Amino acid sequence: MVPAHAACALLSLAPLLVLGVPPIWTQPEQVHLSYPGVPGSMVVTWTTFNKTESKVEYGLLGGRLFEMSAKGDATLFVDSGVEKRKMFIHRVTLKGLKPAATYVYHCGSDEGWSDMFTFTALNDSTSFSPRFALYGDLGNENPQSLARLQKETQLGMYDVILHIGLTAKVFSQHSSRMRTVGPQKMLRPQSRLSLFTEHNMVHQALGGTACNFSNYKNRFSMPGQTESLWYSWNLGSAHFISISTEVYFYLNYGQELLFKQYEWLKKDLEEANKPENRAVRPWIITMGHRPMYCSDDDQDDCTKFDSYVRLGRNDTKPPAPGLEDLFYRYGVDLELWAHEHTYERLWPVYGDKVRNGSKEQPYVNPKAPGCRERTDRFNPNPKDWSAFRSTDYGYTRMQLVNATHIYLEQVSDDQYGKVIDSIWVVKDKHGYSAWF
Ligand SMILES: *[C@@H]1O[C@H](CO)[C@@H](O)[C@H](O)[C@H]1NC(C)=O
Ligand SMILES: *[C@@H]1O[C@H](CO)[C@@H](O)[C@H](O)[C@H]1NC(C)=O
Ligand SMILES: *[C@@H]1O[C@H](CO)[C@@H](O)[C@H](O)[C@H]1NC(C)=O
Ligand SMILES: *[C@@H]1O[C@H](CO)[C@@H](O)[C@H](O)[C@H]1NC(C)=O
Ligand SMILES: *[C@@H]1O[C@H](CO)[C@@H](O)[C@H](O)[C@H]1NC(C)=O
Ligand SMILES: *[C@@H]1O[C@H](CO)[C@@H](O)[C@H](O)[C@H]1NC(C)=O
Repeated sequence: MVPAHAACALLSLAPLLVLGVPPIWTQPEQVHLSYPGVPGSMVVTWTTFNKTESKVEYGLLGGRLFEMSAKGDATLFVDSGVEKRKMFIHRVTLKGLKPAATYVYHCGSDEGWSDMFTFTALNDSTSFSPRFALYGDLGNENPQSLARLQKETQLGMYDVILHIGLTAKVFSQHSSRMRTVGPQKMLRPQSRLSLFTEHNMVHQALGGTACNFSNYKNRFSMPGQTESLWYSWNLGSAHFISISTEVYFYLNYGQELLFKQYEWLKKDLEEANKPENRAVRPWIITMGHRPMYCSDDDQDDCTKFDSYVRLGRNDTKPPAPGLEDLFYRYGVDLELWAHEHTYERLWPVYGDKVRNGSKEQPYVNPKAPGCRERTDRFNPNPKDWSAFRSTDYGYTRMQLVNATHIYLEQVSDDQYGKVIDSIWVVKDKHGYSAWF
């Protein structure tokens, strides 16, 4: 967490910044941080229009400024829009960070440095109770909802931001930014929020004729040591798994990805379920883009009884397995999905049936995973697994309190930050046997 006073302390260093006109073509923009899933590390990502070195200079807050430095590399990204804009995406991994310590850094090269930012390395204790903000695809339509989220982040309300975009990504708490100038206006308007940069590019890379996972993979080396489209990481008492649901839809660009992901997922779930692992990280939380269930009125996959994501596909050779059974068998506790604008919470559900813990306390020792998702417009007659729906713009707060308790609440931006839905998920037992 970056306490408010850390940001103020930094502001007093502002005279150190060069406040002149930035050298636009080599000036870092769209700076953001993500957590690569390896304790004590953090990845800094930014863009420049021209190719430059990729360096991060950093140091502990209160220590000597920029006493450490790390180098990375840059990859060329060509916008699929008509103008075919080119830019370089730089990535530098910082390693050996002290748990829960706050660092000051800047990134770029001797041809142009970013502003100074701070971040706090994640606490690696299994008894740490991280606070998350979760958002889906709302950014393109409603950047002001993110203004609230940005402010709350700067106030130190979150340890981690989870972005459940086309592939789910984890951002460390976003670095506090001291000034917003530079050539951002040259980018698409919605990319002025740095949190969205890669996501928008991913949209472009996946949209229309440019929908090629191979391209996508090369350009966006996501956190984790695996294929980049899927990865897992641990924090506090939870094991998080990010998957790509898109592999169920874009078969022409790589049916093998669907099977590779499934095999990886199965192995990862097996590992997480080893008694010694599940004992210290009892929660298993998945994040993916397209939900298995939703009560929308469009023709999306999740509206269909035989959703591809849920049940798999029959039109492939061999048939492709879906995710519902796998998640159920390995005792996934909570599934976080995203798609478009609206918010929907489901009762615990498996096999299209509600499996409440009890009628009075459906999320206390539930008999199937619980889901929270963002989807499209609603069907006027939701099925009985639909627990709460809202079309308000907003985002979710989640706190992993301890091994038995998780708290979730939905914030409405339309209603000026009002909490419109909240639940406690309580589990005394985890894993497959907990369903019975
Ligand atoms: C940026 O790259 C362009 C095209 O390669 C080149 O013409 C220009 O001189 C470069 N600008 C800087 C500041 O390096
Ligand atoms: C990490 O979190 C645990 C549990 O809240 C706490 O006891 C510990 O002091 C924290 N570690 C650091 C380095 O702040
Ligand atoms: C997808 O991209 C890869 C690597 O860029 C390329 O080799 C392959 O031919 C592309 N596939 C299609 C179907 O466009
Ligand atoms: C696959 O095909 C079988 C036989 O036609 C059908 O019963 C089943 O529902 C199909 N499954 C999916 C996921 O479409
Ligand atoms: C699940 O619990 C909720 C909340 O008590 C209740 O409204 C709903 O009817 C229950 N569903 C089933 C199938 O028991
Ligand atoms: C976990 O957190 C809940 C909610 O704050 C609390 O009631 C419970 O006692 C905690 N359990 C342990 C073992 O600390």
